[in-house]
Amino acid sequence: MERIRLKLSQNALWTHLVLCIFTQIISGSTDFSQRARNLMETNPLIDGHNDLPLQLRRLYKNRLSEIDLRTINTTRTNLHKLKIGHVGAQFWSAYVLCSAQDKDAVRLALEQIDVIKRMCKDYEELELVTSSQGIESTKKIACLIGLEGGHIIDSSLGALRMFYDLGARYMSLTHTCNTPWAETSGGGQHKFYQGRKSLTDFGAEVVREMNRIGMIIDLSHTSSNTSRAVLAISKAPVIFSHSAVFALCGIERNVPDDILLGIKKNKGIVMVNFHKDFIACRKPANISTLADHFDYIKNLTGPEYIGIGGDYDGVNGFPEGLEDVSKYPLLIQELLRRGWQDQEIKGILRENFLRVFRQVEKVREDLQNLKASEVEIPEDELDYSCRLDLRKYERQSRNASGYHESSVSAFPLITYILSCILITMNIH
Ligand SMILES: *[C@@H]1O[C@H](CO)[C@@H](O)[C@H](O)[C@H]1NC(C)=O
Ligand SMILES: *[C@@H]1O[C@H](CO)[C@@H](O)[C@H](O)[C@H]1NC(C)=O
Ligand SMILES: *[C@@H]1O[C@H](CO)[C@@H](O)[C@H](O)[C@H]1NC(C)=O
Ligand SMILES: *[C@@H]1O[C@H](CO)[C@@H](O)[C@H](O)[C@H]1NC(C)=O
Ligand SMILES: [Zn+2]
Repeated sequence: MERIRLKLSQNALWTHLVLCIFTQIISGSTDFSQRARNLMETNPLIDGHNDLPLQLRRLYKNRLSEIDLRTINTTRTNLHKLKIGHVGAQFWSAYVLCSAQDKDAVRLALEQIDVIKRMCKDYEELELVTSSQGIESTKKIACLIGLEGGHIIDSSLGALRMFYDLGARYMSLTHTCNTPWAETSGGGQHKFYQGRKSLTDFGAEVVREMNRIGMIIDLSHTSSNTSRAVLAISKAPVIFSHSAVFALCGIERNVPDDILLGIKKNKGIVMVNFHKDFIACRKPANISTLADHFDYIKNLTGPEYIGIGGDYDGVNGFPEGLEDVSKYPLLIQELLRRGWQDQEIKGILRENFLRVFRQVEKVREDLQNLKASEVEIPEDELDYSCRLDLRKYERQSRNASGYHESSVSAFPLITYILSCILITMNIH
């Protein structure tokens, strides 16, 4: 009897122990998941880059009336998923294909800004904001506008200023093409302005003007040498709105160590891109692969210079487990599991970006006595084939005959139209 009772209680002990360990494991992981959600509830994410507006053009010709953004499932982003993902502010990318450079890039960018503004007005869950204060005070998902590609301003500081007035708060200096004034990381993908290296003198003027008006400088997509040149002159902190770490995947699109350290010195921020091909160089990728990029930058610079720029709807291929914008909490959970402190997580969710934005606004205030720059890009640095060449009118007006259309002979007009057609045919 005695022995049997002892055996029974031993069994009970074992069962208890196993159950105990089991619940420990379960509650351990739900702890991280719960902690992630709690943190994000009080510190909703500011994401640096989302290309939903590109998909709206590509799939629906910007016809918002045909779709319901709350539930749309042809994209990785919808309002329902943003809520689940605890996104509190989103930079929507006003992106224009490089092929439109020197053609209708300005109009296309205006139309993307239009669709972002309409979307943020039509849905009560969204609100367009244009300042750090706006992000902090809204109870809704804050909409911010980022211009993707310096070709959008058509080498015009006047156009840059007007895009700011429309609400754009960052501009990526290049996309995958060189502009007349800045070199891309995209190599020879496009034929524009081959031979441009780094930042030209006019490019430096663009940077100074962006500092003056309070437009955040985005270095994602620029070449490393362009980034270095900008870091050397910008008075305000700069961002990478959607870029990963070069040391972990050595492509020019990613950020090398010296520039990560440059960002620390500049007090800027690298908002980490989730794209599989950027974080894992075409090898399989999961949440852990992505978390390595956060750990890497944290190890090198400390956690204050890191943010999140998922690039959803801009690329195809996301790590297993992070397929759409509802999944951000899983990344936060993984970082908590790796020992990140709450304060550090709050930083990458929003405080680090807000610090940058506030400082950009402060630099604008400090520079408010400077007048708008009237610098123009030198004529020989532009490709005039698809522009109205105002130079001859200027010469005429100096001869006191004023601007007049009638003086355009048919011949240059025909060459202009022909060359535009030829360029269009060549593009693809
Ligand atoms: C996507 O949405 C459409 C209608 O809005 C619905 O018919 C379809 O079942 C949905 N697909 C998935 C995979 O949820
Ligand atoms: C970047 O600039 C350095 C110094 O001017 C130059 O030596 C190097 O070739 C440049 N890198 C590229 C990829 O052009
Ligand atoms: C991610 O994949 C690696 C192997 O590629 C694996 O060791 C690891 O457990 C995976 N992590 C997660 C969180 O799925
Ligand atoms: C970061 O540093 C920790 C501690 O030294 C190390 O274990 C880890 O492998 C590093 N992570 C990366 C991605 O470099
Ligand atoms: Zn991009």
